[in-house]
Amino acid sequence: MEKRKRSLVKAISWRVIATLVTILFAYIFLEDWTESIALGVGANALKAFLYYLHERGWNMTDWLRTPRANSRGVTVWLTGLSGCGKSTIADALAKRLEKKKAKVVRLDGDVVREHLWRDLSFSKEDRDENIRRVSFLCSLLGTGNIVTITTFISPYREMREHARKTIGDFVEVYVKCPVDVCMQRDPKGLYEKALAGEIPNFTGVSDPYEEPESPDVLIESDKELVDKAVDRIVAKLKKLKYV
Ligand code: ADX
Repeated sequence: MEKRKRSLVKAISWRVIATLVTILFAYIFLEDWTESIALGVGANALKAFLYYLHERGWNMTDWLRTPRANSRGVTVWLTGLSGCGKSTIADALAKRLEKKKAKVVRLDGDVVREHLWRDLSFSKEDRDENIRRVSFLCSLLGTGNIVTITTFISPYREMREHARKTIGDFVEVYVKCPVDVCMQRDPKGLYEKALAGEIPNFTGVSDPYEEPESPDVLIESDKELVDKAVDRIVAKLKKLKYV
């Protein structure tokens, strides 16, 4: 209220000053107070009216306005075995959403483990801790209307449910792929090492993966093209009015 009062007094006092200046200026040329006052008051009343119209018109156009983010905060949580195609789909999805002017952040297991918490191992406790920390990050990012796309194996159902609860705006995408196909792809050569016993607790080899029972989107990456998978995720996000 105080703020409105201040701007009202400011606007009126400026109008009065402007009118007086016009009157005085007009008097220099006209040398007649009646005509000068009529001109000063008339000109300023007309300007105030035109200013109002101009303000309204200007607010109607987005010309030169900084584009508003075209998204609502949400986390798209991709889960699945190592090598199932989470990152490929996530990168393509990020590109697609950025074209739609959404603000996108990618969070990836390898990246956060390298840059944020090198201390975490792949024991059940540490995997749970990884997901706990990431969930908190996602919930923060969500408050800034950001679409966060995550790629974590997140093998435990309970922790994915924890993520859903912590984040709230959460879309679970299960990137399903038979483990033998992941082993054939083996993009990082990790399955070979895990099978040789060089990496303990390797998901799908010597550690469990609990499949989602009712994911929001199910992608069978050995049967479906990346573009089609992205189409379906975007359709889901649109349906839920996130983008
Ligand atoms: S999660 O289980 O805690 O969700 P996260 O997604 O962060 O795992 O990390 C998985 C990545 O770590 C894999 O893509 C792989 O590159 C690497 N990795 C290293 N050791 C293991 C392991 N024992 N099990 C699974 N992934 C591993």
